[in-house]
Amino acid sequence: MTFDNNLDHIDSPRPISNGMDKIVSLAKRRGFIYPGSEIYGGLSGTWDWGPYGVELKNNVKNLWWRMFVQERDDMVGLDAAILMNPKAWEASGHVSGFSDPLVECSNCKSRFRADNLEDKNVCPSCGKKGTFGEARQFNMMFKTHVGADETAASISYLRPETAGGIFVNFKNVMDSIHPKLPFGIAQIGKAFRNEIAPRDFVFRAREFEQMEIEYFVNPAEWESAFEEWRNNVHAFNDAIGIPRDAVHELEVVPEDRAHYSRRTIDFEFDFPFGRKELYGLAYRTDFDLKAHMEASGVNLEYMDEQAKQKFIPHVIEPSFGVDRTILALLASAYTEDELGGESRTYLKFNKAVAPIKAAVFPLLKNKPQLVEKAREIYLSLKKEVPQIMWDDNGNIGKRYRRQDEIGTPVCITVDFDTLENDTVTVRNRDTGEQVREPIANLKSVI
Ligand code: GAP
Repeated sequence: MTFDNNLDHIDSPRPISNGMDKIVSLAKRRGFIYPGSEIYGGLSGTWDWGPYGVELKNNVKNLWWRMFVQERDDMVGLDAAILMNPKAWEASGHVSGFSDPLVECSNCKSRFRADNLEDKNVCPSCGKKGTFGEARQFNMMFKTHVGADETAASISYLRPETAGGIFVNFKNVMDSIHPKLPFGIAQIGKAFRNEIAPRDFVFRAREFEQMEIEYFVNPAEWESAFEEWRNNVHAFNDAIGIPRDAVHELEVVPEDRAHYSRRTIDFEFDFPFGRKELYGLAYRTDFDLKAHMEASGVNLEYMDEQAKQKFIPHVIEPSFGVDRTILALLASAYTEDELGGESRTYLKFNKAVAPIKAAVFPLLKNKPQLVEKAREIYLSLKKEVPQIMWDDNGNIGKRYRRQDEIGTPVCITVDFDTLENDTVTVRNRDTGEQVREPIANLKSVI
């Protein structure tokens, strides 16, 4: 089965790459990620997050927020509007420069990103040679109109990065919170890019989420801050369970860097379709604040009271894609093995990100005493750990397989012995091992 949701009149077919089909299929079957607007044939580059996908995503975002905002005293959060005054995107260089080279096949009309073509002379869709003309620059920002008039004056854009909202609020944060350098502003939210070739599941989507930090520093200190955030990126991956040996740093050469960056490291991950960018870390200098200061006429300088010096802070920007994080987690966690002579699939999530921490079953759903006892245990655990699931559907084997595919670390079964001695069976997802535990121990087990 393929979930390639292209609309022919909008763009060209997008294959799901090798090695991804099983992950895409599990993600849909088990309620993690669905193709966007599927009942209407889909909308290329959009994905809808199902019940377990939302939990997984929220766990990742909450961990990130906790680690980089709540546990630090040099960071604050922000939630800026997605729609911004278009002047902000003119100043940042996105209106003039946020584009990819696009080519169109004169035979089948398929469109491609010129820099992604393996053979620039052959159309990958119809196989004809020499059908591409000159590449033209295609701006990736989604345009919309604000208000009732659809005129040039009412044009605005859906933000292509969350960073923009942070820069335009630099002065507001300074004036209301009065932080001292170095300090950072973090934001999690949607970003939109009209990608020429959305592909590889949620890896390259048109609507996606970012977790970004603009860390403002004295220009003399940019290198040490860059190093600190480089380590923090790895620490975050450790916390959520992305293996270090699957992440590789790439020093981006000047000609490949974004227009605002003087140094960039890409953190690449070994996805099933190859080694590709997971996160970025950029030294944006004072490019953005300077550009917004010039365009808006508002002073965005920082006053260093000790040195009695005014200057525009420089910026270190770690930028994390939520969707790519989830894809890396799914790819890292996806495991096939044999258990009790049967092949099975499970997601080896760590406890911190697992969408469901434990499932509670009555051994038999037609025995009221078992159901009542299991319900009691379920409700009491759920008060402490909300991500607990009740499951009485099908036989025990089926329930285990379902929970394995959701990535639930432990399953708790209430049986007739429970009624006698207040113990339950606790089954470990990775080993399949089952042990008896007193009900009183369950909170610590989870
Ligand atoms: N503010 C800097 C910035 O936006 P970027 O490298 O263009 O830099 C940052 O994007 C991160 O956002 C990427 O490393 C990736 O994780 C995610 N990202 C970018 N484009 C994406 C897309 N089309 N689909 C999914 N995630 C994307």
